[in-house]
This record gives sequence, structure tokens and C-alpha cells, in this order.
Amino acid sequence: MTEKHSDKSENPRVLTGITTTGSPHLGNYVGAIKPAIQASQADNVDSFLFLADYHAMIKSHEPDKIHQSTIEIAASWLALGLDADQVTFYRQSDVPEIMELSWILTCWTAKGLMNRAHAYKANVQSNEANNDDADFGITMGLFSYPVLMAADILMFNGFKIPVGRDQIQHVEMARDIAQRFNHHYGDHFVLPEAMIDDNVAVLQGLDGRKMSKSYNNTIPLFDTEKKLKKSINKIKTNLLEPGDPKDADNSTVFQVWRAFASAEQTADMRQQFADGIAWGEAKRCLFELINQELAEPRQRYAELMADPIAMEKILLAGAEKARDVSVPKLSDIRSAIGIRPITGK
Ligand code: TRP
Repeated sequence: MTEKHSDKSENPRVLTGITTTGSPHLGNYVGAIKPAIQASQADNVDSFLFLADYHAMIKSHEPDKIHQSTIEIAASWLALGLDADQVTFYRQSDVPEIMELSWILTCWTAKGLMNRAHAYKANVQSNEANNDDADFGITMGLFSYPVLMAADILMFNGFKIPVGRDQIQHVEMARDIAQRFNHHYGDHFVLPEAMIDDNVAVLQGLDGRKMSKSYNNTIPLFDTEKKLKKSINKIKTNLLEPGDPKDADNSTVFQVWRAFASAEQTADMRQQFADGIAWGEAKRCLFELINQELAEPRQRYAELMADPIAMEKILLAGAEKARDVSVPKLSDIRSAIGIRPITGK
């Protein structure tokens, strides 16, 4: 099977989206934003990064929250070094072709495939556990969420898709949908692959579970220094005293440390755990390490948040670049499926 790469360049296209619900937290940074920005800085990479604001609607029906989250996430990515001239950075909703493609792909998506989606199944299971109707509270948006994600990816011939582990299945579904489409209409879509960074895939939150907005256990990315310190102090530990050897591998403090530290710093902290570092001291070191990395971006973030007009401009310019790809692509797809002018072949 031949695999086409991006439209505009010879390089494989890296594409990822971030759902605009909530405020960006350290888990988003470590698991998605940082690797995506790093990848985008390599010369030979053609990056598409976008704010998945229509995905946000699946989780939230609160207009102000979706709006605020979009602003914060845009400012975060830019503050952390995303170069909007070098990459294509846009809001999903500014590219209406994506929604149109989503319907076309919906007509090629087996319902049985969507039945197997983890996010949907988790909702059904929790309904059953609560003795509710299996479909209680489940919208078609949640059910067909992987189709919209497939449209995001396939629209732009995204090839490498950096995502968290929970999203691998969705990328595989996009691949499956693309394959079916290609098989019927010819080779229109690149088959995408999930890209997982094994070292930093999932960050633990305050309570030791995966750091996630839905668990309410996050450490915000750009709070004040004081609040960052406070959050880190809230990370759950055990009752071991200073001097007691501590098990690094079962410690959230250590796990978060590792996500920010060099290999050498990680080895050093592991030794300090074995030597019985006090929890307070370990947390103080962790704060210093994270704060060192975030102090400058925090300043840029504040500047961006104070200039919404400039940010809007950046996003609209990004959408223009994205539509240079999506408009002709959708036109090809429509033609392929037989949606074309009466005079057209
Ligand atoms: N669903 C992804 C998440 O919640 C976000 C997302 C939407 C995405 N569309 C995408 C990620 C396309 C990669 C590619 O994390």
C-alpha cells in the first residue's frame, strides 16, 4: 500500500488537537503540548496544531467556559514557544470543511466500530453501575466523537499523530475509516499513526490517578508561582518520616519529577528517595524544577492574555493556511463521492 504524505511538503505531517475545555494543566503540557512543540521545531517537520473547540461541545454546554478555555489554551501554546509562522496553528471551528468531512466520514463509519470506543463504553458502564438506562446522558456527539477526530486528521493528511494513550484507539479508528474510504473511492487519505512518547505519556495528578480535568486533580500550568507551590504541596504522599527510605516508583512526586527532569536529575532523585528525603523537601525541589521551566513562559502568557486582538489575528492567519489545504481537499472528496455540479463529472 502506498502512503501519501502531506500535500504541500515532502515531509510527513504531524498533527494534533487539544480539546478546549478547562484550563491547561501540567498533564497537558507534559503529555501533549511540550512534545508537539518540540516536534514542530525540527526543520523537517510539517506541523498542524489546532484547538478542538467543536470537540469541547461534547463535554461542555457552557459557552463562556468553552470560550475562556480556547483563549487560555491558545495563549499557553504560544507562550510555550509554538511558532505560529512555522506551524499551522488554528481553531477547528474556523475550518468549516472539517465539519463537512465529518458527515461524509460518518457515512463510512460502522456503528459497531463506534460501539467499541473506550470513551463511549466507559459512559455506558458507569450508567449500568448506577442502574441507569445504558444510554443515559450520552449524546450522538459523544458517540461519534471519533469520527470528528478522524475528519480533523484525514482532512490534512495528518500522518504522525502525537496523542496520549487514551487517544490511540481514536487514531486507529481514523485509520480504519480512511482505509474503507480509500478502498471504495481511491487513494484519498493518508493512513495516520499514533505517536506516543513512552517516557512522558501520562502524568499523575494530585491523587495519583492520571492528571485529568475530569478527576479534578490537576496542577494548573500558568497559575502564580505561589499557587504552583501550593498545588505541588497537595500531591498525595504516604506517612513515611524524613530518613525513611521511600519507594520512588510508587510516588507521584517522583513521577512528576521524572517528567520534568533530565536523566541525571532523575537518577539523583531516585537515590535521594532511597536515602529517605523528606516529603516536604522533595516537593520543594519539585517546585523549583517546574518553576524554572515555566517562569519565562508564564510571563509571555500574561502578555498574550492581555492582548486578545493579537491572538485572534494569529488564529485567523492559521485558519487561512489550514484552508489552503482543506478547501481543495474537500472539493476533491465531494467530487469523488458524487456531490458535484450538475455540469461536472
Ligand atoms: N480528542 C483529543 C483529546 O481529547 C483531541 C483531538 C481532537 C485530537 N481532534 C484530534 C487529537 C485530532 C489528535 C488529532 O485529547
